[in-house]
Amino acid sequence: MSTSSVESVLHENRVFHPHESFVAQANLSGMHAYHALCAEAEKDYGGFWGNQARKHIHWHKPFTATLDESNAPFYKWFEDGELNVSYNCLDRHLATRGNKTAIIFEGDDGSVIHVTYKELHSRVCRFANTLKSLGVAKGDRVVIYLPMSVEAVVAMQACARIGAIHSVVFGGFSSKSLHERIVDAGAVLVITSDGQFRGGKALPLKPAVDEAMSMGGVESVKSVVVYRRTGAECAFNPSVDKWWHDVEAGQSDQCEPELVGAEHPLFILYTSGSTGKPKGVQHSSGGYLLGAMASLHWVFDLKEDDVFWCTADVGWITGHSYVAYGPLASGCTQVIFEGVPTYPDAGRFWKMIQDHKVTIFYTAPTAIRSLIKAGGDLPKQYDLSSLRLLGSVGEPINPEAWMWYYNVVGGGRCPIADTWWQTETGSHMISPIPGVVPLKPGSCTFPLPGIMADIVDEVGHDVEKGKGGFLVIKRPFPSQVRTLWNDPERFKSAYFPPELKGYYLAGDSANRDLDGYFWIMGRIDDVLNVSGHRLGTMEIESALVGNPLVAEAAVVGRPHEIKGEAVVAFVVLKGVRPEGDAAKKIAADLRDWVGREIGPIAKPDEIRFGDNLPKTRSGKIMRRLLRSLAKGEEITQDTSTLENPSILEQLKEAIK
Ligand code: WT7
Repeated sequence: MSTSSVESVLHENRVFHPHESFVAQANLSGMHAYHALCAEAEKDYGGFWGNQARKHIHWHKPFTATLDESNAPFYKWFEDGELNVSYNCLDRHLATRGNKTAIIFEGDDGSVIHVTYKELHSRVCRFANTLKSLGVAKGDRVVIYLPMSVEAVVAMQACARIGAIHSVVFGGFSSKSLHERIVDAGAVLVITSDGQFRGGKALPLKPAVDEAMSMGGVESVKSVVVYRRTGAECAFNPSVDKWWHDVEAGQSDQCEPELVGAEHPLFILYTSGSTGKPKGVQHSSGGYLLGAMASLHWVFDLKEDDVFWCTADVGWITGHSYVAYGPLASGCTQVIFEGVPTYPDAGRFWKMIQDHKVTIFYTAPTAIRSLIKAGGDLPKQYDLSSLRLLGSVGEPINPEAWMWYYNVVGGGRCPIADTWWQTETGSHMISPIPGVVPLKPGSCTFPLPGIMADIVDEVGHDVEKGKGGFLVIKRPFPSQVRTLWNDPERFKSAYFPPELKGYYLAGDSANRDLDGYFWIMGRIDDVLNVSGHRLGTMEIESALVGNPLVAEAAVVGRPHEIKGEAVVAFVVLKGVRPEGDAAKKIAADLRDWVGREIGPIAKPDEIRFGDNLPKTRSGKIMRRLLRSLAKGEEITQDTSTLENPSILEQLKEAIK
């Protein structure tokens, strides 16, 4: 690891102070209130989080201890406390919010369904009983491969209700990725649908499950439950496949929540790392729920009357913390959308904000940039006056997109919470608290209370303000990853490298300006951020070399106007280097291959062929050179250690 390349390139001087009217009504108002909370956490760290945990969560059995650091880095929080996450999300609202809308679901075709807390509770109980009737027990793993739907939330909540551990796999992942996750998790049950509606089309989903089930090693799976969404024909294997509506028929709508210890795993979510194999990030029940709830209170300033809309898919961590769990635990009304932002046109989001009177809107910079491009004036055609707060997540938001979001979508009235966090942190770590912090476009500003985020050099020493370094979190926090499923050793080495004094290493480089604002600069490992999603370069490389034509491959990122980063693959074939139409054809085939191996998001934007890759004399691929080539830069770096300099010429140009 080296920090030498980490220098801030941003020079952003604009500052946007929170409006007085916002500050006056905020859950946390003014810098002094924020500093008071930070000071409380500083003084008595366990006590601070203990108070938060009692404030936000209903404990069936109160905890007597807060943080247990005895087996670092396998930290435990609130360990002897008992709770049920689904009880916290549903049952406890029934007396006061039973008839309140929990979910406003808008289908791809514009049809709208309102589900109250009472109805959601009944549906979750019925499905929880269904899972039990299929033999699913506490601690069993259930893989969920569903489109954005009320059913996806019901499935997740039903698992939580009976203490089963879910692992949601994003519907855009291929059968191969799905198979890998089913096997690693040792799932006993898979929940899917016949298909999904997106952009006016019915797309199949069940066939990917059928393929995964035919790949072998899935003996643990006893049933596949299929929710009928599109009505499309699909293959049905009666020995494992069961229709959701059939198995659910006759189940009671009452189901006692299974009480679990605070550390009981709520879910596993696979995410890319710097090796070829995805990491099964394991989250807890108590600490995780606390992170989601506390951040909704502080960052999203959540109030009883808010209509909250997080556009993330439940296949990602954002859709776990800010769709399936946090908003329900906080008793709010939220929007869930099945479709895509550009159908029937690029005004869809803005129309939905108008129609459902959304007050808090949370999306990703890549979506914002693509909507600017597809129709930067469209928001003006809709009444967006219900909005009071905006959020951004997934990658640094560039100041141009920030200004458009602020002025055109937010009418210059809504603060923007640029929330920095990760699959592993479970909830927001660094983000403006809107009634507190003056905003700088492109900065995620300051850590939340109780989050000891800092920037250090390669031996864990603090760097001065104005200097860059590694983003770390110095103390364990409640919502952090507990371990990697089946791989505690990798958990230790990936996140707690010995040279960093036991700090949690986020894998991002960051910089703090002279006012102390945090600016995230990018990843320090071989991980790309494509459209706000993490992709390991090694993962794509292993997919490529899995193709019989490919001898060797190296994948790097290149800045991309809309996606943040584009995937560029340098490939050496086993046969001769193809040129002209042959090269085009093989490149197209390889892109499809990667799409099938991992999923469409991982398809290389560009593939270049060479007789070899630039390597050092010891055989190491020189990735920095490949990055320069991908960007079309002249090679000014030192190439004296390069074994085969002539290769650079071949790899210089994109296939025409
Ligand atoms: C990585 C985590 C957290 C949910 C979405 C992605 C990047 C995330 C920001 C932000 C700058 C950001 C980081 C981080 N990232 N949010 N506001 N500003 N960078 O979750 O797939 O676990 O990816 O996304 O690089 O490490 P993820």
